[in-house]
Amino acid sequence: MITSFSTVFFCYWLFLAVTFKFSWFLRGEHMIERDEALQLLKKYLKNEKHTQHSLAVEAIMREMARMSHEDEELWGLTGLLHDIDYGYTEDTPEKHTMIAAQILEGLLPQEGIEAIQAHNYKHTGRLPINALDRALVAADAVSGLVIATALIIPSKKLADVKPETLLNKYKDKTFAARCERKRIELCADTGFELEQFLQISLTALQKIADKLDM
Ligand SMILES: [Fe+2]
Repeated sequence: MITSFSTVFFCYWLFLAVTFKFSWFLRGEHMIERDEALQLLKKYLKNEKHTQHSLAVEAIMREMARMSHEDEELWGLTGLLHDIDYGYTEDTPEKHTMIAAQILEGLLPQEGIEAIQAHNYKHTGRLPINALDRALVAADAVSGLVIATALIIPSKKLADVKPETLLNKYKDKTFAARCERKRIELCADTGFELEQFLQISLTALQKIADKLDM
């Protein structure tokens, strides 16, 4: 009796996990390997700073996914590839993410492509409506804030950034104003309190500090 109950419970859990976490797989969609994704990114993004920004957003997205038991690979690759067309669209923001969607067709599950389009919602009109969409918007904005905070301390090293300094810089709306606080606040819709999200983001970037030359 106990065994059959356990089997049913396990199958139910597996059903939920597969259905809600890996629905792209069930739909027969493909997801590019991480090494290929990085090569693809470097093919399109020639500016090293843009590549480093992509790596930063990826690192934050992976940390968020891991902590909230989401699909880490999907969230990470969505972060890594979110600005893949930036070299072509820097001066035409209305096209940003539209070209990315074409590049990534068949390489990234549809929800990843939609999240990428939603992070440019001011121009695409696709609003960030789910956790992945909102995580990308928040991670994109907070990555800039963390980097900007590191750059104003004497060592300019991520390892030396203190969480309280980051929080103070977050509260100072005149500091790194392009890192829109409204976008960072979307972390709340992904299950993270603001201070926790800042800490997660800082930790994520400290782990890849060598790749960011910081
Ligand atoms: Fe970005």
